Amino acid sequence: MQSLQQKASEWSGVSIADAFAIDEANLFHKLGLQTLVNLSTNFYNRVYDDDQEWFRSIFANSDKQNAIQNQIEFLVQRMGGPTLYSQRRGHPALIARHRPFPLTHEAANRWLHHMGQALDSTSAIDDDSKIKLINFFRFVFFPQVPLHFMENTFITTLITFSGTLHISLWLELSK
Ligand code: HEM
Repeated sequence: MQSLQQKASEWSGVSIADAFAIDEANLFHKLGLQTLVNLSTNFYNRVYDDDQEWFRSIFANSDKQNAIQNQIEFLVQRMGGPTLYSQRRGHPALIARHRPFPLTHEAANRWLHHMGQALDSTSAIDDDSKIKLINFFRFVFFPQVPLHFMENTFITTLITFSGTLHISLWLELSK
């Protein structure tokens, strides 16, 4: 059976080695806290100002400053710095935390588009770090789209199945 990581690699087109190259280079030390703060602020400014309403609406119930803070702490922790995110929020559990949002391929592409632009326009991020970060984001994120889809299909099937079961039981009992 394929591991989730192999599937993630297949779905995202990013090799496992490239996705986790961030673990070989401590980008927290290399880039520093202020650069990660600037990156997250730059990214979320783009997200909240997106001219496409369908994408902006995904974030409509999230406070922008809070979203920025969450992402800064996540990046600090994941890029090799102190575990700020887990100290405040617990395990990142990204699949579970993204469950309320409609994560389509279109949304993932739009997210990556803004992240790509934020990486390009945040000073002090060298090309090598940029490539490492984008590979990590693609790898982590793309698998969530099919997983999200499969989960919804599974739940729909379950509901349909139990509905059918209910009806046939009811028919059986009411004979
Ligand atoms: C939170 C959407 C991709 C990491 C969120 C939130 C939304 C969202 C709406 C809630 C904002 C908040 O209150 O923090 C999306 C969409 C994505 C995407 C539409 C692409 C389709 C990613 C990726 C990562 C990521 C690639 C990191 C690898 C996080 C983190 C949080 C978050 C750490 C904070 C979770 C929490 O503490 O509640 N995302 N996201 N997201 N996202 Fe994403």
